Amino acid sequence: MLYSTILGIESSCDDTAVAIWHRGKILANITASQAIHREYGGVVPELASRAHQSNIIPTLQHALKKAQMEVADIDAIAVTQGPGLMGSLLVGLNTAKGLSLALKKPLVGVNHLQAHVAALYLEEPQPAFPILVLLVSGGHTQLILVSDYSEMKIVGTTLDDAAGEAFDKAAKLMGLPYPGGPQIEKCASLGDPNAFTFPKAKVPGFDMSFSGIKTALLYFLRNETEKNPNFLEHHLSDVCASFQQSIADYVADKTRKAIEAYKPRSIAIVGGVSANTSLRIRWQELAREYSLQCLIPSFEYCTDNAAMICMAGHFLLEKEQLLPLDALPFSKS
Ligand code: KG4
Ligand code: ZN
Repeated sequence: MLYSTILGIESSCDDTAVAIWHRGKILANITASQAIHREYGGVVPELASRAHQSNIIPTLQHALKKAQMEVADIDAIAVTQGPGLMGSLLVGLNTAKGLSLALKKPLVGVNHLQAHVAALYLEEPQPAFPILVLLVSGGHTQLILVSDYSEMKIVGTTLDDAAGEAFDKAAKLMGLPYPGGPQIEKCASLGDPNAFTFPKAKVPGFDMSFSGIKTALLYFLRNETEKNPNFLEHHLSDVCASFQQSIADYVADKTRKAIEAYKPRSIAIVGGVSANTSLRIRWQELAREYSLQCLIPSFEYCTDNAAMICMAGHFLLEKEQLLPLDALPFSKS
């Protein structure tokens, strides 16, 4: 192990996160979430970068205190380089560059999506490779075949919205606050998942599409509300449960096809939507059906966090793939 203590910084969207990794253990994993976006029903980039600017140093100090360390104890720094919102990324990247310069410690730039996959290595059991990973977040949905700790290939991707985005947009249509995924899950727990059906997009191969299901929900709600203006009030939990089940069925069907084609030894779900309990249960069932190992990160490592940045950074540091100080953030994957 070249570097024993890694500071991780994540600021790609609306969470300012700092973590400290020491010899394979996470000593601190602190996230400052930004409530300000709730009233706008989605992330406002300019407000996000300003909030990162206010939160980054207190979050760093909080993480150091939790780990009972001084900044000088850090051996290396890992930071999210992209993809993400440009103004948000700049805050984390520039803080990391400043620390790297001041402390004379190496810096690595982490790909946020690869870091979601690296969240799988933070906890036991260690995976049996290859792993077929479904990455489901607010900005991305991909099926990824992971052949080794830092070797991966995208085998399917959404052609339009991400799964998390579909949850967020559906929640907005139903008047639920942002982020919509956890809100839909909460309402769904009281509803009947078979009450309504929403059509699945027909996309060839392992690619996916989520914009149709959102539009189907829009027309469905419009029709039902015309017939009964109080429809949503009386059926919110059934609509949420049915919508959640439709998304889970869709991604599970795609994954089933990919399991048959790629014959992995493990399956996994990562990213914010993997915090969804019904999806987690579905993955455990899928793994049992095919006798595969099932890997799902703990809740704190599903949504955006800096522990996963430390983990992905560790592999870059071991290969000495360092980031030069003139490196820029990237907004697209
Ligand atoms: O990975 P993440 O924290 O940020 C991105 O990289 O995008 O994912 C955020 C997404 C949001 O769309 C949010 O609604 C969704 O994850 N999400 C959920 C749940 N918790 C978060 N979706 C469904 N069920 C949940 N419990
Ligand atoms: Zn993410």
